[in-house]
Amino acid sequence: MVNYLGKGFDDLITVHAPGKLYIAGEYAVVEPGYPAIVVAMNQFVTVTIENSYDHGTINSKQYEEMPVRWRRRGNQLIIDNRDNPFEYILSSIKYTEKYALEKHQSLALFNLNVNSQLDADDGKKYGLGSSAAVTVATVKALSEFYHLNLSKEEIFKLAAISHFKVQNNGSFGDIAASVYGGWIAYQSPDRQWLTQMLATQPLSKVIQLDWPQLSIEQLHFPKELNLLIGWSGSPASTPVLVDKIAVARSQQQDKYQQFLEASKDCLQKMIAGFKSGSSNIIKEQIAQNRHLLQQLAQFSEVVIETPKLTKLCEIAIRYGAAAKSSGAGGGDCGIAVIDADPTVKEALLRDWSLHQIQPLNFSVHSLD
Ligand code: PMV
Ligand code: MG
Repeated sequence: MVNYLGKGFDDLITVHAPGKLYIAGEYAVVEPGYPAIVVAMNQFVTVTIENSYDHGTINSKQYEEMPVRWRRRGNQLIIDNRDNPFEYILSSIKYTEKYALEKHQSLALFNLNVNSQLDADDGKKYGLGSSAAVTVATVKALSEFYHLNLSKEEIFKLAAISHFKVQNNGSFGDIAASVYGGWIAYQSPDRQWLTQMLATQPLSKVIQLDWPQLSIEQLHFPKELNLLIGWSGSPASTPVLVDKIAVARSQQQDKYQQFLEASKDCLQKMIAGFKSGSSNIIKEQIAQNRHLLQQLAQFSEVVIETPKLTKLCEIAIRYGAAAKSSGAGGGDCGIAVIDADPTVKEALLRDWSLHQIQPLNFSVHSLD
C-alpha cells in the first residue's frame, strides 16, 4: 500500500546519532568565538519512524520513567524540563515540520520510537550527551520521512535551533559532534543573532544563512595516543551547571574574561598540536585546560572536578597520562590521554576500577 507521500505504509526509517565527549574548552565554548574540542563516541541514539493511521505515538523505553524536575521561585513551582529528552524530541518534530511546511511538504501521522545506548541500564546517564543525540536523530529521521534531503550543515542548524528552544544556554558542540562524527574543533554561533533571525525570518531562510562565529573543523588524533574514559558513576545536569557559571560571568567579569582568554590560548595550542600530530603538545594542553577549569571552579564556587574526578585524574597522571574532567563536570566522565604501551594502559584502567571509577570501553565514531 502506498500513501500520498509515495511511501509504503510498511516502510520503517531507522537512523542513528552518536553521543559525544568534550576533550577541552568546556564553558568557554558557550561564548561565541571560543574554541573547544569534542569527539563523537560509538554509542548511539536510534530513532525509527513509520507511518500510522488515526493517531501518532512517541515511545522510548529509556525515558519513560523520567522524574519531573522542579525548583522554587518564591511560592511558585518552576519545572525545569531541560534534562527531559521528550522535550527535545517534541521540539525537533516542531521545527523539522515547520521547515517541511515551508518547503511545501504535507505533514503526516507517524509512530516515532527512540532507543538510547547513552543511558546506563539503571537509568543513569554517562554524560555522553543524550539530549543532543536524541535531537539530531529525530531531525534526521523526520528529514527522511518528509524527503527533505538535508545536508549535514542543515541537519546541524535545525537540530541546534530545536535544542536552543529547550535549553537556551548550550553551545551546540555536542550537536556538531553528533552530526559530523570524529574529532572536531568547534566554536559556537552567536545566539543573540540567531534569536533575532528566528524572530524575523522564515526558518528555511535562517537555515540557509551563514551563522556568525560558527566554526566546525574536523581534526585527526595522533595514532600513538589513546583516549581513555572513566565514569564517575554520578550523573550531572549540564544546563544547571552552566546556569551557575553564568552567575560568576556577571558578578566576576574580570576573572571570567581572563579564563576565556586563557582557555582560547590553550585550545589554539592544542588544535595546533592536533594539526602537527604532536602528542606532547596535546597532553600538555590537556593538563593546562584542567588547571584553567579548576580556577574557574574556584572563583565561581561551582564544583566541576568532583573528588571522584580528582581521583580519576591523579591515578591517570601516575601512569604518565594527561587527564581532566569532561564536559560540565560535577560527575559524569573524566578523560585521560596516554601514549604508553598497552600494559601500562591496562594497569591504569585496573587502578581506576579499584577506585570505583568505571572504565568505559567506547571508541571514536567517525563517519568516513
Ligand atoms: O557535560 P557535557 O558533556 O554535556 O558538556 C557540557 C559542556 C559545556 O561547555 C559546559 C556546555 C556546552 O553546551 O558547551
Ligand atoms: Mg556532563
